[in-house]
Amino acid sequence: MNQQEFWNSKFSRDGYLYGLEVNQFIKYCYDNFKKSQKVLCLGEGEGRNAIFLAKKGYEVEAIDASDVGLNKLYEQSKLENVEVKTTCIDINNWEPEKKYGAILFTFMHLKIEELKILLKKVENSLKEKGFFVVEVFSKNQIEKNSGGPKDLELLYSVDDFKDNIKELKIHKLEEVIVELNEGTGHQGEASVIRLIAQKI
Ligand SMILES: C[S@@+](CC[C@H](N)C(=O)[O-])C[C@H]1O[C@@H](n2cnc3c(N)ncnc32)[C@H](O)[C@@H]1O
Repeated sequence: MNQQEFWNSKFSRDGYLYGLEVNQFIKYCYDNFKKSQKVLCLGEGEGRNAIFLAKKGYEVEAIDASDVGLNKLYEQSKLENVEVKTTCIDINNWEPEKKYGAILFTFMHLKIEELKILLKKVENSLKEKGFFVVEVFSKNQIEKNSGGPKDLELLYSVDDFKDNIKELKIHKLEEVIVELNEGTGHQGEASVIRLIAQKI
């Protein structure tokens, strides 16, 4: 089963798997993003972060492999009277054409070789002073049942980001225990990696 089939089947159920509330770490960071700039949400799924940012006045684009997830994002954006431009592709096939004021990456879990290539594209796609913000599960999440893949190869370490981000200034990079309350998909104590980096 490829990523699209896997996520389409998850998102085909009623409701929003990770809820409609913005992720708490994105809520904590977004105020630093320059107003009236483009924000790109990678692996955005059903769109909770994209819609939140569109409502705050940002010009938002979202990429995801799941057309079912992006259709739900579209339906919700209509209800909330905002626009989000969506692109349905496997992120490994993303060929960046624009520059963004911020790029977000929440809970998309890739193999390390895929992550390395993606990080390079992210670095090249940020405007000067643009932010890259990440919240993902760490390898220690393997022992927890609050969400995320049950595959160590798809979970991250701090070094996966530290060693492969070359052109951004890292303001924050840490592994922390948090309490997630995000739909039915992310519930309870979780081990996550949080990153805030900026193009200088
Ligand atoms: C756990 S969900 C997180 C969704 C969203 N970022 C959020 O925090 O609510 C993971 C998302 O990553 C997407 N995804 C996983 N692998 C992908 C890939 N190779 N290319 C594009 N999207 C991918 C899935 O379709 C899914 O929407």
